[in-house]
Amino acid sequence: MPTTPTTYLITGANRGIGLEFARQLSQRGKDAIIVATAREPANAQDLARLVHEVVALDVADESSIAAFAEKLSGRPIDVLINNAGVGSDQNTLAKVTLAELQRVFGVNTFAPLLVAKALMPNLRAGQRKTIFNITSQLGSITNNKGGSSYPYRASKSGLNQLTVSLSHELKGEGFCCVMAHPGWVQTDMGGPNATLTPEQSVTGLLKIIDGLKPEDTGTFFNYDGKTLPW
Ligand SMILES: NC(=O)c1ccc[n+]([C@@H]2O[C@H](COP(=O)([O-])OP(=O)(O)OC[C@H]3O[C@@H](n4cnc5c(N)ncnc54)[C@H](OP(=O)(O)O)[C@@H]3O)[C@@H](O)[C@H]2O)c1
Repeated sequence: MPTTPTTYLITGANRGIGLEFARQLSQRGKDAIIVATAREPANAQDLARLVHEVVALDVADESSIAAFAEKLSGRPIDVLINNAGVGSDQNTLAKVTLAELQRVFGVNTFAPLLVAKALMPNLRAGQRKTIFNITSQLGSITNNKGGSSYPYRASKSGLNQLTVSLSHELKGEGFCCVMAHPGWVQTDMGGPNATLTPEQSVTGLLKIIDGLKPEDTGTFFNYDGKTLPW
């Protein structure tokens, strides 16, 4: 008896953790339909070899989100992985600027919510109704023992808050909306000294996605399946 494939949508998948999601999901063969986004699909050749379709999306641009949603109109999506993100080197009060706060919040906080909003018809038509937001433990206020990284930390705390609100609003429809810290990962953002390879991180993250239950909605996961404090 053939099983119905699961459709995954991964944002920011041309490099780093997003590309590794595409690579590992591609190993599932007919069980996974992978739609991935890149700001410049023409420059995402590695990704294009792994997935069914690469769609252009700049998550910080409302018109790009609208064009992207239009392109996917009528197609069910089971699992949305909001992965695209940016770091910031504004680590001290003296360095912080409004422009940088807006840039980082635009990508890390506002975009996952706006992408989910734009894809609601697709997600409602999907079987899994899962929104999986890639956050950071740097967004944990409880775990903030050292400060620094003003725009980045706050943007991920904000993402966590929006994710929990979304989980409440959509719970009655059977949605599972969660957030997960990928660990410190060897990517352009994480740098070469990070403790995890993308493969190790995404293996853990996919295990979480595969095992999600409705009652998990609103949970802040670590990549290893444990929970993190707010
Ligand atoms: N690496 C870590 O240690 C670590 C730790 C905690 C959390 N995270 C989170 O994990 C996620 C992935 O990070 P990563 O380490 O893979 O980072 P990365 O290697 O720097 O890749 C970031 C990805 O996000 C995309 N992106 C950035 N701005 C975008 C925009 N405006 N529109 C669309 N795509 C955009 C990038 O596309 P371009 O190539 O076009 O720039 C790239 O594909 C992020 O949310 C990050 O905050 C990472």
